[in-house]
Amino acid sequence: MTLTESIKSNPDNCPSASHTPDNNAPVMLVTGSAKRIGAAIIRAAHHAGYRVIIHANNSADQARELAAQLNTLRANSAAVVVTDLAVIDDTSALQDFVNDVLRSFGQLDVLVHNASRFYPTAIGHITHSAWDELMLTNAKAPLLLSQAFLPYLQAANGCIISLLDIHAHNKPFIGYSVYNMAKSAHRTMVHSLALELAPAVRVNGIAPGVNVLPEDQSDQALSDAQQAAIVQSIPMQRIGKPTDIAECALYLARASYITGEVITVDGGRSLTLAGGNVGV
Ligand SMILES: NC(=O)c1ccc[n+]([C@@H]2O[C@H](COP(=O)([O-])OP(=O)(O)OC[C@H]3O[C@@H](n4cnc5c(N)ncnc54)[C@H](OP(=O)(O)O)[C@@H]3O)[C@@H](O)[C@H]2O)c1
Repeated sequence: MTLTESIKSNPDNCPSASHTPDNNAPVMLVTGSAKRIGAAIIRAAHHAGYRVIIHANNSADQARELAAQLNTLRANSAAVVVTDLAVIDDTSALQDFVNDVLRSFGQLDVLVHNASRFYPTAIGHITHSAWDELMLTNAKAPLLLSQAFLPYLQAANGCIISLLDIHAHNKPFIGYSVYNMAKSAHRTMVHSLALELAPAVRVNGIAPGVNVLPEDQSDQALSDAQQAAIVQSIPMQRIGKPTDIAECALYLARASYITGEVITVDGGRSLTLAGGNVGV
């Protein structure tokens, strides 16, 4: 089941809106965008004048808070849609999700596949549920959501932007074979759909390096020594920032002659990376 909460402001809940709504502004949906990189893309797009749709699953409260902030800046400019992307496995639930998104602003110009799960699956310990979840969030949902939203993207001459990973290509993480395979499939989707959907819809990807560390509470959290080793491995000598990715997403959203491209945003890390453990 999906639950749409269009937190479109009105004079009562948005007394300080400083700009009038722009009903001609393009609309961007970013999956998994209540926090971290997704939220940075939402903020950057909103700042650039887009109307934005924040999608969340467990982080619905953070999504609502973000939408409220953005609607305070500009009335009727941010909406929230809450759903588990597992809806793609149920035709009618998927249609509900599409309807919820379209109900927000009546159009969709940019679809950003950002939602993801990331955890190890050491060989010998790979479960069906890990396979299903990692493949669903990192590969199957991007493809089936692209298909479901295609008529609207075509009508808008819009574009799709996929969040990939420098490890989705030729520098796989050891012990993460399912994640590596899923992101690799997603990368192939970018190239396949770029061919199939041109000229109406452009399809591009962004391959981050290390842009936001796993949260401290997460079982993927990195030690100080691992973090220092990562910084050492990055020619730009710093962990990337979510805004580095957001700027690239905005560029791709506007780059009308670029399709089938994957831009690496990793401070040069992939130039030095041997492939291997997450922390080095
Ligand atoms: N962080 C990095 O440095 C880095 C490096 C390489 C690639 N990337 C890629 O860049 C993108 C963003 O990275 P990130 O670290 O900001 O992502 P993240 O925090 O790991 O995940 C983003 C969001 O995905 C959503 N999500 C996960 N499973 C879902 C499901 N079944 N249904 C709906 N939503 C689901 C979660 O939403 P809720 O919280 O609402 O549940 C989560 O907040 C990802 O695609 C990631 O693979 C990131």
